[in-house]
Amino acid sequence: MSTGIEGLNQRFKDESIGFLLGTYLEAHKGRIALASSFGVEDQVLTDILLRIDPTVKIFTLDTGRLPEETYSVMEETNRKYGIKVQVYCPDRAAVEALYQTQGINGFRESVENRKACCQVRKMEPLRRALSGLDVWITGLRRAQSPTRETMQLIEWDETNHLIKLNPLIEWDEERVWDYIKTNKVPYNALHNQGYPSIGCAPCTRAIREGEDIRAGRWWWENPEHKECGLHLKGK
Ligand code: ADX
Ligand code: SF4
Repeated sequence: MSTGIEGLNQRFKDESIGFLLGTYLEAHKGRIALASSFGVEDQVLTDILLRIDPTVKIFTLDTGRLPEETYSVMEETNRKYGIKVQVYCPDRAAVEALYQTQGINGFRESVENRKACCQVRKMEPLRRALSGLDVWITGLRRAQSPTRETMQLIEWDETNHLIKLNPLIEWDEERVWDYIKTNKVPYNALHNQGYPSIGCAPCTRAIREGEDIRAGRWWWENPEHKECGLHLKGK
């Protein structure tokens, strides 16, 4: 698959984001979706995608532990664009078993527990959200973290067996915010309170000046562990 992917990256590297997304939306109509955490990058993509195709699938993984502000921006986004984002929830029995085996906030006790929680609350719902798709679109940016420095615009997702499109991979934070402000796109109120990166409430904190963008995610773990699994390369 890698030669084909390299060719695609070459073909689209100097094209506009509108051309890239337009081409993929047309070629994979009904089999392409944006995964949105309602972070600022995903809000940019939502705005761009809906201008091209108002029927495009946008889904979110509601882990059950999200901050209230995230639900507010979900609702505001639905209302502004006249859409119903598809919300995927974890399996009820698996969540109940998780509470029995590791307690309420067991994810703080070990990396193993944390990964088990992300598996139940994010990975399994993601697998369902992606089933039947050819392409998933994400708001990943290289500058977000050392674990993301080698990511490409277009990738083959070996874990989920589909193409992963990262249209903002080269964007910096300033460009993201310029787009949001210019186009009056709704965004998560936590971004104004020191949260550049927002996940589950108990696993996200505000960052202090000078700290890395993702310093507030799973801050008690070492940097090399700080991916929940959504974006880890398959073996
Ligand atoms: S995470 O892996 O650490 O949680 P991050 O918050 O940086 O990821 O988001 C990176 C991209 O992963 C987002 O732009 C989005 O495409 C996808 N993503 C993350 N969390 C979710 C979620 N809860 N629902 C859907 N997509 C998500
Ligand atoms: Fe669980 Fe925290 Fe992962 Fe959310 S980010 S699924 S609460 S471990």
